[in-house]
Amino acid sequence: DQNIVGGSLKQQIARLFEESLRVTVPEELDVAPAIAPCQNANFGDYQCNNAMGLWSKLKGKGTQFRGPQPIGKAIMDNLPQSEMIESCSIAGPGFVNVVLSRKWIAKSIQKMLVDGIEIWAPRLPVKRAVVDFSSPNIAKEMHVGHLRSTIIGDTLARMLEFSNVKVLRRNHVGDWGTQFGMLIEYLFELFPDGEGANEQAIGDLQAFYKASKQKFDEDPAFKERAQKAVVSLQAGEEKYRKAWTDICEISRNEFERVYQRLGIQLEEKGESFYNPYIPGVLELLRQKGLIEESQGAQVIFIEGKNIPLIVVKSDGGFNYASTDLAALWYRLNEEKAEWIIYVTDVGQRDHFDMFFTAAKRAGWLPSDENQYPKVNHVGFGLVLGEDGKRFRTRSTETVKLVDLLDEARNKCRAALVERGRDWTEEELDQTSEAVGYGAVKYADLKNNRTTNYTFSFEQMLSDKGNTAVYLLYAHARIASIIQRSGKDIEQLKRTGTLNLAHTDERTLGLHLLQFAEIVEESITNLLPNVLCEYLYNLSEDFTRFYTNCQVVGSEEETSRLLLCEATAIVMRQAFYLLGITPVYKL
Ligand code: ARG
Repeated sequence: DQNIVGGSLKQQIARLFEESLRVTVPEELDVAPAIAPCQNANFGDYQCNNAMGLWSKLKGKGTQFRGPQPIGKAIMDNLPQSEMIESCSIAGPGFVNVVLSRKWIAKSIQKMLVDGIEIWAPRLPVKRAVVDFSSPNIAKEMHVGHLRSTIIGDTLARMLEFSNVKVLRRNHVGDWGTQFGMLIEYLFELFPDGEGANEQAIGDLQAFYKASKQKFDEDPAFKERAQKAVVSLQAGEEKYRKAWTDICEISRNEFERVYQRLGIQLEEKGESFYNPYIPGVLELLRQKGLIEESQGAQVIFIEGKNIPLIVVKSDGGFNYASTDLAALWYRLNEEKAEWIIYVTDVGQRDHFDMFFTAAKRAGWLPSDENQYPKVNHVGFGLVLGEDGKRFRTRSTETVKLVDLLDEARNKCRAALVERGRDWTEEELDQTSEAVGYGAVKYADLKNNRTTNYTFSFEQMLSDKGNTAVYLLYAHARIASIIQRSGKDIEQLKRTGTLNLAHTDERTLGLHLLQFAEIVEESITNLLPNVLCEYLYNLSEDFTRFYTNCQVVGSEEETSRLLLCEATAIVMRQAFYLLGITPVYKL
């Protein structure tokens, strides 16, 4: 059964139209089918929009066609036989509308029930990708911007992994640079014999950073020692190396606590890792004639930018840009990544634009942005407080992320207790974490990432509207419907038959089948909000179905239970891709 094997629904429809186009306009083999969902559901489910474009290509060439409509008609007539299609019609200037067969939709869903949701994994044109995300800086605080990067980056990595792409999840931590001189020197001051430089003794690393910075600014002798310390560290002197390692370790443990809460997998390859590669990589760029002297620094001029990209500072040191060039080279050549995705705030856009351009000019990347290997900067907006300003708490200048997550969990727990169900302590713990952290993630992901969003516990923890809480309730309700039926759903999957007789069943079924193309769109355009919107609409479609179609105790019980189960599976997979843990009781 060729038609229902793999690929998204849209890809499968596209394949049929591709065959038709080959027959209809054999002279235009490079034309790809333009398939989109129908704007108006009364016309059909999908439409093929090629006729108009073809007409403007063909009309000057002495074609047999007399306009776009006859082209559309021919495309329709040349469609191969397929059990997917119920009927087709032509609208306007040659749009071919397709109504999918209910039977086929049902059959495809049943196949997923038996073979698993993996058969709905999108197919992407890459095998290996790097997602560079989270990437906080050692000894500085991990702020809400890093939280956004962590949440968005993790989702993108999950979508790629689901699409069978090998993902290198990279934490590009800021663990190198001149600030380490002052940190190390300050550490020596506090612990002259080198002992005791651990987390407990240092306590708050941000305070430590501040104190050392203050001393650096106020005490010239200290400043001088700090500058020498940088040299000793870079020369690999044991004592300095050890101090640096200790400081990094303390920070790392702090980051790890956030990652653990949020279920984030990351492999640290910090800036220091790429440091040894920088001279060689700059040499490659120099040979291509990209690097010039400017005011004592070495720079790459980028067309359209006012300031050049500095790759060697006037003091001879390397910087953020030289590190990123070396990292890019490494990822392309050593790690053989075909797609490299960087997740940071939009404020860094210029930095990425500039070194991407340099890499293109060096011939490392194709100049056509649709070709691979490909790089993307995934920029995101600010997190705002309810006062519309940059998100902060009253007590401190910024919010500690662990405290923020604690608060989400605790507020959730209180709400659960208030609802007064019979919770065991363990259930309460697990549920409040799943819902609390899920709420934080979803509140972030549901927005188009490029916009600023307002952080509000009240909004994100509401059980109404487009929130994780609402969606998790919807899922728990479906699970309880299945459970209440007393049926063995695993057995029904194998023996039962799914029918989509009622329109609300058909609508829900079609929506389920669109999961693969939504994930594909979401990852291809690097927009997690597309998946969030899908999930929200899915739960609305489910609600409509459940309101209008009796499940338990009805004549259609088996079929409807299967539809419930398929909905629950798709919801769970969407939750998984968004990094949210589903719950079964809420
Ligand atoms: N450490 C940087 C920051 O906190 C983010 C690094 C992003 N990754 C990169 N390859 N530049 O802003």
